[in-house]
Amino acid sequence: MPVRPDGIILQIFPHFVINSFCGMFWAGVCAGKLFWGELCVNLGPPIFKIQLFNRFIMAYLFTPLAIRDVVLKNRIVVSPMCEYSALDGFAGDWHLVHLGSRAVGGAGLILTEATAVSPEGRISPQDLGIWKDEHIPALRKIVQFVRAQGSEIGVQLAHAGRKASTPAPWNGNKVLTQAEGGWEIVAPSPVPFNESYGTPVGLTIAGIRQVIADFQAAAHRAMQAGFKVVEIHGAHGYLVHQFLSPLSNHRKDEYGGSFENRVRLLLQIVEAVRTVWPAGYPLFVRLSVTDWVEGGWGEAECIRLAGLLKSRGVDVIDCSSGGLVPYAKIPVGPSYQVSFAKNIRSATGLLTGTVGMITSAVQAESILVSGQADLIFLARQMLRDPYFPLHAAAELGYQEIHWPVQYERAKKA
Ligand SMILES: Cc1cc2nc3c(=O)[nH]c(=O)nc-3n(C[C@H](O)[C@H](O)[C@H](O)COP(=O)(O)O)c2cc1C
Repeated sequence: MPVRPDGIILQIFPHFVINSFCGMFWAGVCAGKLFWGELCVNLGPPIFKIQLFNRFIMAYLFTPLAIRDVVLKNRIVVSPMCEYSALDGFAGDWHLVHLGSRAVGGAGLILTEATAVSPEGRISPQDLGIWKDEHIPALRKIVQFVRAQGSEIGVQLAHAGRKASTPAPWNGNKVLTQAEGGWEIVAPSPVPFNESYGTPVGLTIAGIRQVIADFQAAAHRAMQAGFKVVEIHGAHGYLVHQFLSPLSNHRKDEYGGSFENRVRLLLQIVEAVRTVWPAGYPLFVRLSVTDWVEGGWGEAECIRLAGLLKSRGVDVIDCSSGGLVPYAKIPVGPSYQVSFAKNIRSATGLLTGTVGMITSAVQAESILVSGQADLIFLARQMLRDPYFPLHAAAELGYQEIHWPVQYERAKKA
């Protein structure tokens, strides 16, 4: 079986030899059905035959991806989504049904919501947590159910920093006082997110060491719970991102100032996590590639950081943006963050995921086919439609998708 340079194994139509040189994305509608593919050049047969051939190999969205020892059955990732439905960090029925139904829906990889590595690292008192061993059994039950559906599952490890101690969003936008169950918040520097948030306490060096140890212990618990993917949350203005950006990091010590100092915390977290996270298991990092603010964290620094992360055992950069300051002007629109994944991918050779306003199968497919990303992260579309992968396969004409046996009678030929 031929293997493309990017590692995708193609099924071949018997009498064709596939080229591995180049391609051009095409799409068209014929008899009310969508066709798409890559035009193979350098081959003798007439173009229409090649199109026919390509019709059979397409649906990159459903090509497996091997990362270290873990194989994702397709490129669809359920992006982390806070549910604010945990008690004292414990996963409950909601989490099992929420994550489990996305596995029934056929996603290749499902990431948990931001899962706090310490109680003070929660965004709200209802956040999911993994700061004590008692959290492991309920998480393990979810992992086992998801994997039984043929999906893979990862945990997003997080610390909210100065954006901690708030209620669930449907209970208002404010900071919780201690009387309301809130807690003292920490950050690189005593700079609040905005006037309705509290002023954080700047972390001491001992406090930073504790944060690193908390991520490490959380990764160890994740392994005990059976997760095979860890994603470190370094985006959206939470603690790690607060260290990366000069807008929130005003430190004068070895964790502030220069690029090397601002990225130090994340690199030390990655190194600590890698010592306990099995070598065969993938490690993802979610980054805000830009703050969308002049003088803030930006793409050039992010590409440099990605190279450093790669050399420390990170496999995938999940490319998001924003969230550090409330006044950023973000040009939100369909696929608006795709270029970040493309640029980091081409500059570093790392696998990348893209996220943000991706809502259709054809949109996702064209991002993959044009080599801009390796994984498609979907958040709100997976809330609208937990069965998005099954529907996307139908839209792309990809018949080989397996529906759960219990639902097979509903699969249209
Ligand atoms: C309800 C909800 C909760 C979210 N919680 C998280 C989270 O826990 N961690 C995270 O990195 N991003 C979180 N996000 C951001 C999403 O993962 C995603 O990056 C963003 O929604 C853009 O993707 P979309 O356009 O497909 O929704 C959340 C988004 C939503 C809608």
